[in-house]
Amino acid sequence: MCGIIAYVGHREVRPVLLDGLSRLEYRGYDSAGLATLADGKLDILKKVGRIAELTRHVASKPRTPAFQGISHTRWATHGEPSDANAHPHADGTGKLVVVHNGVIENFQPLKRKLEAEGHLFASATDTEVLAHLIGKAYQAGMEGSARRLSDAVRTALSGIKGTYGVAVMHEDFPGLIVGARRGSPLVLGIGEGEMFLSSDATALLPYTHKVVYLKDFDVTEIRADRFQIESMTHDTADYQVEELDYAPDAAERGAFAHYMLKEIHEQPQTLENAVRGRLNGEESSAQLGGLNLTPAELRDIDRVIVLGCGTALHAGMVGAQMLENMAFVAAETDFASEFRFKNRPLPRNTIFFAVSQSGETADTLGALREARRKGFRCLGICNSVGSTIARESDGGMYMHAGPEIGVAATKSFVSQVALFGLLTLTLGRMRQMSASTGSKIIRSFEKLPDQVRKILAGEEHIAAIARKYAQANSMLFLGRQYNYPIALEAALKLKEISYIHAAGFPASELKHGIIALIDPATPTVILCPQDSLYEKNISTMQEVRARKGPIIAVATEGDEEIRHHADDVIYVPRTVEMLQPILNIIPLQLFAYHAAVALGRDVDKPRNLAKSVTVE
Ligand code: M6R
Repeated sequence: MCGIIAYVGHREVRPVLLDGLSRLEYRGYDSAGLATLADGKLDILKKVGRIAELTRHVASKPRTPAFQGISHTRWATHGEPSDANAHPHADGTGKLVVVHNGVIENFQPLKRKLEAEGHLFASATDTEVLAHLIGKAYQAGMEGSARRLSDAVRTALSGIKGTYGVAVMHEDFPGLIVGARRGSPLVLGIGEGEMFLSSDATALLPYTHKVVYLKDFDVTEIRADRFQIESMTHDTADYQVEELDYAPDAAERGAFAHYMLKEIHEQPQTLENAVRGRLNGEESSAQLGGLNLTPAELRDIDRVIVLGCGTALHAGMVGAQMLENMAFVAAETDFASEFRFKNRPLPRNTIFFAVSQSGETADTLGALREARRKGFRCLGICNSVGSTIARESDGGMYMHAGPEIGVAATKSFVSQVALFGLLTLTLGRMRQMSASTGSKIIRSFEKLPDQVRKILAGEEHIAAIARKYAQANSMLFLGRQYNYPIALEAALKLKEISYIHAAGFPASELKHGIIALIDPATPTVILCPQDSLYEKNISTMQEVRARKGPIIAVATEGDEEIRHHADDVIYVPRTVEMLQPILNIIPLQLFAYHAAVALGRDVDKPRNLAKSVTVE
């Protein structure tokens, strides 16, 4: 939800900013801009549209070289996408510029007050109000004792409600950039004679692997050769310089046409990374070091509540079923955005899992904080190391999936489901799960990467089916039990990148109303593995057939019977029932991808979406 990159150092700044912005473009892409400071003068260039538009605009305006600048790619919240609303925003003097990721909730009363004082605004954004507030604080500081730009930033931020990751420059302070964060991510990158601020550490990979994940209320001053971090709430700010554990090309698209396709194809390794070092063959169990719970505490868990949004929630839905069926722990899920405003009576030994690829989703973070406020232990399942959810959790599991850039989540989903599988193994073996069941699950885990490779090898068949149905206006996805969340996830994938209307349902619900939608133009995808509910799914397919609805079945390898009931069949290998969702989602990710490509959609940057939703 908006991306910031700022730089001060020895390189010509515009290429660095444009490169950084293109790496952050997944966070928002309706407009972009940059400001540079050279010879004591600010220069602002901004443009509605993609980074490519800004790049063309910058190229058309040759400038004297500059070595410091701030930049931004926007996902509109306040004010439509336009040149005027694009960041950076200046204060009334034009000597100070700000880029901002987040939302200033009380910007309207603040703006009215500033207008009454004579301030004029050029945009409809909340960020411009912040720029004026910092400028005003700076002017006041010039007359008083506070003469640092960072003091003016602190003063202005102390009066706002909401979330921010900001970078600020002022003509009076050549060589300096001030950054601050609360609720929106901001990472400081440390180079040799150069410093960076970024909304996401992966954008810094070509330049440095040394970072500091700033915490809420941190204010930093960066200069080419040094940085300083202070806290707005504590006397001293403690911080840690961390080494990024990614290959320099981890965030590159390589030979793949889209990041989404690359990430779909990475899933065998994603599973290996999720499971590596965590299976315990000797005990037919798993070992999850980061949970920070003793065996006694793990045994005492009465209930698990999984919180998340979108794809992460769907992974949690699979996880909750695993935990109940195989680990005998009461488990349920809730939309993070709903949970945080509920007041549910819960047993004391309830444990929460906040699931989030980015670790920055505002709704999930809000729910985590609410559960912790009520005294519950909250664990995180995150991909982004050092993210806010990871830091604010009492423990948890990292996904180790590497950067996920495609806006449509793919590899993070299989990773999250795999981690719930490991959790189920751990908790199950402490309860009634037998050693032989534990061993069977371990063997199944070990086979998964190759089984995924086999599905990926059948991509062309799946692509042909996707092309056949890509003109449909609407599609239905049906699944039972473990496969109901897969129906939801497959429908979400299709709608977010192809814009085809799609909805997922429990297969048996068809006859309770949804069947009214079935007609020859509305394809139904049904998840029909050869499991305990196979016959029931065949009955559902017959109900669809009787209404002349086209059927695409996702079925178990070797099931010839299914061909009599479906128009098209996609086979997947067999695994234990609780892990089958991992295999079943893969062809449906490819199905969504190829349908979107057939329709000429911008797969990695679907309209209206952003990868990381840091507003509520
Ligand atoms: O970063 P998170 O896992 O917390 O993100 C949650 C959702 O916003 C995310 O899964 C979203 O639904 C994706 N666009 C799905 O593809």
